[in-house]
Amino acid sequence: MMINIITDICVVGVCRFPLGMSGGQIQDEDISASSQWSDSTAAKYGRLDFEDGDGAWCPVITDEPDSLKEFLQIDLRSLHFITLVGTQGRHAGGIGNEFAQMYKITYSRDGSRWVPWKNRQGKEVIEGNRNAYDIVLKDLEPPIVARFVRFMPVIDHSMNVCMRVELYGCEWLDGLVSYNAPAGQLMILHDMPVYLNDSVYDGAMAYSVMTEGLGQLTDGMSGLDDFTQSHVYNVWPGYDYVGWTNESFPSGFVEIMFEFDRTRNFTTMKVHCNNMFSKWVKTFQKVVCYFRSESDWETTPISFSPVVDDVNPSARFVTVSLHNHMASAIKCQYHFADVWMMFSEITFQSDTAMYNTTLAPSKGPTRTGDNPTHKVDDSNTRILIGCLVAIIFILVAIIIIILWRQVWQKLLEKASRRMLDDELTASLSIQSETFTYNNNNHSSATSEQESNSTYERIFPLGPDYQEPSRLIRKLPEFTKASDEAGESTASAQDGVPHYAEADIVNLQGVTGGNTYAVPALTMDLLSGKDVAVEEFPRQLLTFKEKLGEGQFGEVHLCEAEGMQDFMDEDFISDISENQPMLVAVKMLRADANKNARSDFLKEIKIMSRLKDPNIIRLLAVCICSDPLCMITEYMENGDLNQFLSRHEPEGQIALLSNAPTVSCRNLHYIATQIASGMKYLSSLNFVHRDLATRNCLVGKKFTIKIADFGMSRNLYSGDYYRIQGRAVLPIRWMSWESILLGKFTTASDVWAYGVTLWETLTFCKEQPYSQLSDEQVIENTGEFFRDQKRQIYLPQPPICPDSVYKLMLSCWHRNAKERPSFQEIHRILLECQV
Ligand SMILES: *[C@@H]1O[C@H](CO)[C@@H](O)[C@H](O)[C@H]1NC(C)=O
Ligand SMILES: *[C@@H]1O[C@H](CO)[C@@H](O)[C@H](O)[C@H]1NC(C)=O
Ligand SMILES: *[C@@H]1O[C@H](CO)[C@@H](O)[C@H](O)[C@H]1NC(C)=O
Repeated sequence: MMINIITDICVVGVCRFPLGMSGGQIQDEDISASSQWSDSTAAKYGRLDFEDGDGAWCPVITDEPDSLKEFLQIDLRSLHFITLVGTQGRHAGGIGNEFAQMYKITYSRDGSRWVPWKNRQGKEVIEGNRNAYDIVLKDLEPPIVARFVRFMPVIDHSMNVCMRVELYGCEWLDGLVSYNAPAGQLMILHDMPVYLNDSVYDGAMAYSVMTEGLGQLTDGMSGLDDFTQSHVYNVWPGYDYVGWTNESFPSGFVEIMFEFDRTRNFTTMKVHCNNMFSKWVKTFQKVVCYFRSESDWETTPISFSPVVDDVNPSARFVTVSLHNHMASAIKCQYHFADVWMMFSEITFQSDTAMYNTTLAPSKGPTRTGDNPTHKVDDSNTRILIGCLVAIIFILVAIIIIILWRQVWQKLLEKASRRMLDDELTASLSIQSETFTYNNNNHSSATSEQESNSTYERIFPLGPDYQEPSRLIRKLPEFTKASDEAGESTASAQDGVPHYAEADIVNLQGVTGGNTYAVPALTMDLLSGKDVAVEEFPRQLLTFKEKLGEGQFGEVHLCEAEGMQDFMDEDFISDISENQPMLVAVKMLRADANKNARSDFLKEIKIMSRLKDPNIIRLLAVCICSDPLCMITEYMENGDLNQFLSRHEPEGQIALLSNAPTVSCRNLHYIATQIASGMKYLSSLNFVHRDLATRNCLVGKKFTIKIADFGMSRNLYSGDYYRIQGRAVLPIRWMSWESILLGKFTTASDVWAYGVTLWETLTFCKEQPYSQLSDEQVIENTGEFFRDQKRQIYLPQPPICPDSVYKLMLSCWHRNAKERPSFQEIHRILLECQV
């Protein structure tokens, strides 16, 4: 039972901390209930995994038909993002046998307006317990933002009901309490209706205006590049986005108002926008934001115009700097850049997002933290009132003087005119300040991205959960030796393992793609020698097209003149002399921080050592001046995922649809080449960590090279598990031990190879485990760990021979030692000739 909890919580979904029912951080007085059967079954005994009192909370059962009258209520004291709930019945050492087979949840942010929770399919009832002792965990999809949560057992009078519960999540650092926005609209796309309404809004809807709620824009799930698709299984097209058309907004903008829990010091707003310009959807062309700090709206807004991109159709986060404005509400007008504008997520970063949340999140440190701000504001008001009184006093005195001594009249007129002049100058200077803001926006918007990395999350697991210590490690464990990671390890308190968010940034690597992990052994090898790759004259590169974009840089397709002189003789290229060669240029933004730069240089060092026909080759670099670039081979057929999804297997369907085909023989060739490249990497003890078809590039005649470009993260953001809107880990390709223990080895690369092989044989027509949500994939990982034959394997693709499926299954062996090596895989593939 204990193990079940640990594996389910130790997953990489960061915001899944127990909020303190079992750990005790939630005080007894914050747990209340509609009723209690007796004093010994009061609300405070409703703590998961506790046996105090009579072992659980049990309500009075009456014969009234209203079965949803009873509830157990938890006050978290501040807003929390709640992603998971756990329930258990009353066992009481074998005496009790009461539990809730079904229950519902309602929640509230202010304690007065209660909202029933519904899952993404609109169902309210949650399946509860089957016996009195096992803990049942349920993911809340969509997650909840709330301070108060009520568990309401569905009572059918056939048995008594008792409950013990726990909430899992983390503090809601955005502080957003509600947003008001015009309702999302209906798009008709080639006769297909696309519903761009806010699918999970929990507020009120009247006259096409949504008020007082949170929804899709804050559910931590950003939409796919193609807005008609969704991560969520079995929903309508357009589910992930809220969208509007300019036809309904003569003003040319959509206004959204955001209300916060208190006055905050805002640094940035990030808006996740769709940019499928071929379907008339673009990011916004301008945003104007107004701030309200006390009760009045400030008259000087800030405005920001992102670069409107009609080259790259990927959905993206647009970062808007808010220049440390203090506000408790923000009103933004997003101006259309095309006929449609679609958002899937809006997040705000403010002062508290930087708090080092070393305390268990259930108490309200931020509550006390904001009192000083109010105090300062209060005293300001007092001073202001004082000044006004003084001014009135003086004016009265002046009037008296005027009345009494007409002689002074002319002199006084002069004085007041001067006062007026002063006022005019003052308001002019305010305006010029606004103007500077606008100018600054462009430069500061991009440089901000790293600033949050100092803030770290802790695993506040109770002492009970720490016993099998090998399970609770820092997840994932990175081999990177960056300063930041070193510091955060040192600051771990009381031996509580914790998880630094900075590490995630590192994992994503320099341009958004992760770099190869470097085991200590190979680091020695690297530091011994210098980089064996030459500097290329930047002026000989001609930009052709942007291939991709990552967090810290971009990948461009360029023509390089005279590249032949820079290449080793052993590198065969069929480009004739004097002809410019097409190359891919991965470029670090000039304003990237120090860590990103050192990672980029490290990646160059590593890549310069990799020489294999099935690994993408680093040809040259530009590191003598900014921006830093690495120049690699360009593969004309793009990545394997896109390549295969354009093709069909040979056969009846292909004949009918006239689609280009790939023969079994060539599929076999593709699989063998990937295995061969991985065999080479593993011989050097390199762990790739992100092997997938999206990271394999296709050249002429089905040649394959393994790569890892930054562009993959953006194009395939749906393949990565998101934490509150950020792309993080490719869980559908990761072995169970990578997800649960943070262990990345060649054996976990072998697991990913199995998934890559499966993708190849299904022609990348669907994502692995496409019928499972991210949370279900993680649950399935738990099943792999428990190994009670309940784990789900990827099915055998129709065109996959039995022998190859057997190979795939062996790659997913629970015991990493039993998985084949890449050498064996390569040999087996060569043997099973097609
Ligand atoms: C959004 O539109 C879909 C499809 O018509 C509908 O089923 C759903 O109830 C709507 N949701 C809301 C919150 O209006
Ligand atoms: C807001 O935060 C910034 C950076 O921490 C600080 O410099 C600034 O003084 C703060 N503004 C207010 C009004 O507290
Ligand atoms: C909507 O946007 C398109 C493209 O920018 C423009 O051509 C059209 O005139 C706009 N329609 C309205 C009603 O503003």
